[in-house]
Amino acid sequence: MRKLFPIILALVVISAFILGACSSAPSGPVVPNAENGKKLYDASTLGSSSAAGCASCHNFNEAAGKNDKAPYTEGTATRAETRVAGMTAEEYIKESILKPNAYVVENYKEGDMYQTWEKELSEQQIADLVAYLLTEK
Ligand code: HEC
Repeated sequence: MRKLFPIILALVVISAFILGACSSAPSGPVVPNAENGKKLYDASTLGSSSAAGCASCHNFNEAAGKNDKAPYTEGTATRAETRVAGMTAEEYIKESILKPNAYVVENYKEGDMYQTWEKELSEQQIADLVAYLLTEK
């Protein structure tokens, strides 16, 4: 029995680990949450390497500050409808986050927007951010 104890202990630890991994796995399709997206957008840092958050570059509108670092947040959804022919507002906003250089807004330079959100944000976080920006008409 003494020899069996470490084996049983190991089995208990392994099964607890497997159960834990299963319960934290994504449960079904991503459901976008605009409210959470706004929180993410306004957070001072974001992502696995704690980069400066969206709102640190994107001021809400003229009353909130200049647009020298990035386009205003207000009106994003409306502009997004016509930025790229053939792209919906949703597609354009998502691409702007994942591949900012695919379309660079006039008066800004390629590379001005932080480029590695695709790696640093989860699918859920990206969906939430897109859902939030679609409400900023
Ligand atoms: C380092 C500054 C910076 C940060 C941080 C930043 N952006 Fe940007 N963003 C820019 C700049 C500059 C542009 C315009 C140039 C371009 O199109 O790449 C832009 C463009 C955009 C656009 C397109 C706007 C339009 O009018 O077409 C969207 C949408 C956007 N950003 C969303 C985000 C989101 C969401 C985050 C956070 C996850 C974020 N940005 C973080 C600088 C930033």
